[in-house]
Amino acid sequence: MSRIVFLNGSFLPLEDAKVPFMDRGFLFGDGIYEGIGVLNGRLVDNEAHLERLERSLREVRIANPYSRAEWTRLEEELVRRNGMVEGFLYFQVTRGVSERDFFFPEDAQPTVAMFTQAKSIVHAPVAETGIAVVTVPDLRWERRDIKAISLLAQVLAKQTAKEAGAQEAWMVEDGFVTEGGSSSAFIITKAGAVVVRPLSHAILPGITRKSLLELSKEEGIVLEERRFTVEEAYDAAEAFLTSASNFILPVVTIDGRPVADGKPGPLTQKLRQLYLKMAGAPAMAAE
Ligand SMILES: Cc1ncc(COP(=O)(O)O)c(C=O)c1O
Repeated sequence: MSRIVFLNGSFLPLEDAKVPFMDRGFLFGDGIYEGIGVLNGRLVDNEAHLERLERSLREVRIANPYSRAEWTRLEEELVRRNGMVEGFLYFQVTRGVSERDFFFPEDAQPTVAMFTQAKSIVHAPVAETGIAVVTVPDLRWERRDIKAISLLAQVLAKQTAKEAGAQEAWMVEDGFVTEGGSSSAFIITKAGAVVVRPLSHAILPGITRKSLLELSKEEGIVLEERRFTVEEAYDAAEAFLTSASNFILPVVTIDGRPVADGKPGPLTQKLRQLYLKMAGAPAMAAE
């Protein structure tokens, strides 16, 4: 069965989904996107993702083509049509099609494109082994809180990581880690505090980050929302990342240096289990 995608009001096979040459997403990277985890055929934290979508659209002044209820219906329909059990749902909204000109077009309709990617998240081998990250300079613009489709800096950062044998890049500005190329960055201090950079224009407000902070608070885990340096990360007791497509992954080396003993840390594993339970993975949660 070919993959079914959604484009501008229609569900259709991927090979039939065509976006016009003059789409501003293609020409300018003029659009925003969302990515949502799917577990047991259910969207994880969808309300929070749709809230962030609304905010991103407002910030770049693209009219939201659908209500929250309509978005949800379309997302669920796409998951259903693809028979997707576990993976990732992606969608983007661009400013639409017009002659190439920087000014907003007067009459263009936003382009809406949505697809699914089946992926094993709960039993991903990297969840057991942990991943390597390398640090790179953060080359992005100053509004990283907007989930913009223009991701050239992250493409370069993540390719650098891959070529260094790592799975993620941690971007660094003024000596402090901002976030991962496509994830939020966390460390755990030797005193057991979970440390994450506070929200600002410097980072994307991760939805998995938000849920994890709420779960940690409920568990009475000490949280420190503050910036941390690369040196502090090298010296941390544990490190991990969060994202909608991976949930929580242990980070076991940073720039080739093992984090503590170079194995996934106990608090990271506990947080992953708590998150899995919240997301509706009952078999894992009992372990
Ligand atoms: C730059 C960046 N930071 C953080 C995240 C994690 O956000 P979320 O948990 O909402 O997936 C992402 C996800 O794509 C990202 O691209």
